[in-house]
Amino acid sequence: MERVILAYSGGLDTSVAIPWLAEKYDAEVVAVTLDLGQGKELDDVRERAMAVGAIRCHVLDVRTEFADEYVLPALQAGALYEGQYPLATALGRPLIAKRLVEIAEMESATAIAHGCTGKGNDQVRIDVSARALNRAIRVIGPAREWGMSRPAEIEYARERGIPVPATVDSPYSTDLNLWGKSIECGVLEDPWAEPPEEVYTLTKSPAGAPDAPAYVSLDFERGVPTAVNGVAMPLVELIASLETIAGAHGVGRIDMCENRLVGIKSREIYEAPAAVVLHAAHRELESLVVPRDLDRIKTGLAPVYADLVYNGLWFTPTRRAIDALVADVQQRVTGTVRLKLFKGDCRVVGRKSPHALYDEALATYDEGDQFDHTAAEGFIRIWGLPVELAAAKAAPAKAATEATPAKAAPVS
Ligand code: ARG
Repeated sequence: MERVILAYSGGLDTSVAIPWLAEKYDAEVVAVTLDLGQGKELDDVRERAMAVGAIRCHVLDVRTEFADEYVLPALQAGALYEGQYPLATALGRPLIAKRLVEIAEMESATAIAHGCTGKGNDQVRIDVSARALNRAIRVIGPAREWGMSRPAEIEYARERGIPVPATVDSPYSTDLNLWGKSIECGVLEDPWAEPPEEVYTLTKSPAGAPDAPAYVSLDFERGVPTAVNGVAMPLVELIASLETIAGAHGVGRIDMCENRLVGIKSREIYEAPAAVVLHAAHRELESLVVPRDLDRIKTGLAPVYADLVYNGLWFTPTRRAIDALVADVQQRVTGTVRLKLFKGDCRVVGRKSPHALYDEALATYDEGDQFDHTAAEGFIRIWGLPVELAAAKAAPAKAATEATPAKAAPVS
């Protein structure tokens, strides 16, 4: 008999997967539920897994590992997929794969399984990550194999006495962790349709947000956010507290049409109040302390990093190499950023750092200006020399075309 380690959320798909794996593969199923900060009560998840036929259920709190080793490097790299999505779901997948593989090795299992469908990115992320960590382990995706429609799946569940949660009535497919929430399906599949207010659970409607703005100050030490409004806290709590403040001010709603790895475009709604604030603050502090040429290189890698996270390439030499460069840059990223949150808007209003490259004596237009204005003239002559030369060479050609107009001038 084969033993399979299943990533178990407690929802309908992965609940149905337990008897399905047992029947189809004659397997005994060990369920694994990870707490990535989805905030759901995970106490009864073990009983639910056992009730539908799992032989064991491991429930693990991986929030700190997720925040420190997955979310933080992505924040420091400035990873926003297609300029917007902070990658909450995508960042969770390699960690899920890692834990599944570790438990499979511990349990002497030959396969791992997950509830991802066959047309999303998540299956790619879990399968590729698992194979990077252990090539011998087989990955089974019941939901991409069974070919059951939603009603057929509910019927299958009812026949086997699997409790069908009331939430299956929700038309939306969601994924939640401490870095944000992803929402798909239902009316959202029409990219022209405005998302109904009910899809949002982490953010207040900007229109209903407080009439007075909130000011938030964020301290960073070597690229790590360490305190909110002067109160030091570990990253997991810092993210949670920012989610509360920013969410209350309607900050963090994202509505986009994105390119999935499998080639389709999909309309996605995200709520990521803490991620939006932290990315804005971190970027701003880097702008203050990172030399121009290095900043260009570093920010140029942000979309590369976002793509590789999105496309399931976490456990790769490329990701590790970019991490090394980003980590080096972070050594200067110490300081404080002040932000104003107001009716859905998140705006940086102040920044300071002991490593600031900003020098008021050089920047000022007031008294005490130390910039050498006379040096500017010579600098500009030499800077502009190639421009002058190229323009001078181009001049005759331009004159020639002007001399022979293609069309006669209109007679007025
Ligand atoms: N489009 C996002 C991504 O690929 C969100 C996926 C949401 N996943 C889910 N199981 N609902 O990362």
